[in-house]
Amino acid sequence: MDRKDLVNKDKLPKHVAIIMDGNGRWAKQKGMLRVFGHENGTKSVKDVVEGCAEIGIKNLTLYAFSTENWNRPKKEVDTLIKLLINSLRKELKTLNDNNIRLKGIGNLAALPKKAQTELKEVIDKTSENTRMTLTLALSYGAREELKNAMISLCSKVKNNIISVENIDESIINAHLYTYDLPDVDLLIRTSGEHRISNFLLWQIAYAELYFTDILWPDFRRKDLFEAIINYQNRERRFGKTSEQLN
Ligand code: IPE
Ligand code: IPE
Ligand code: MG
Repeated sequence: MDRKDLVNKDKLPKHVAIIMDGNGRWAKQKGMLRVFGHENGTKSVKDVVEGCAEIGIKNLTLYAFSTENWNRPKKEVDTLIKLLINSLRKELKTLNDNNIRLKGIGNLAALPKKAQTELKEVIDKTSENTRMTLTLALSYGAREELKNAMISLCSKVKNNIISVENIDESIINAHLYTYDLPDVDLLIRTSGEHRISNFLLWQIAYAELYFTDILWPDFRRKDLFEAIINYQNRERRFGKTSEQLN
């Protein structure tokens, strides 16, 4: 039986987030430059995005570039941005054909102008699509996101727009980049690393974590389906006892 058929369509995670890691090591294993890994990583992105849409996932968020990644050698950073621009240009049609909306989160203003323009164009041209929201985390850092939310809340309090007593979790949530997305149900990280690397700290509070040794350029939709099947076999207790759930 195809792995896709083993996915329970009635128990899908509402929001899947992926830390796409291992491009550099994948290239190194092949005796190639890191850039080669990044180029091949874009094939995995395409396959996983289509795989998610295919089984009915409503929200997919991909960690493409972190605030910390700015500290990599300039040449590698430039290549990553160039790949982003090319992919956006190339995949606009795929997104529209599949009825997928694109969203960007992170300090997008830090990206080169050309990348900002390209990103904005694809976001605008896919804004009416309803099948799935694909969010790209670019120049994204969770602590920066939380810091920005706190600054925004503090200034609203100062200007009497909201009162301190009214601040609750939903108001904090509304001030994050992900204000229009549900909490992450399933977080996947490839390449065998077991860390979060400053990704969606607030949003993963109760996410199921799934780690695989597969390097990102080798990750395909069948691996995603495997992760989802694994997720569906877990008992999400949210603090309750197993008996309470049944
Ligand atoms: C993930 O692969 C891509 C980005 C972080 C942009 P890496 O480039 O981190 O690859 P490794 O972890 O060095 O193998
Ligand atoms: C996390 O991967 C960021 C992205 C996948 C974009 P890194 O390779 O940058 O993470 P660390 O440095 O191993 O924590
Ligand atoms: Mg890495």
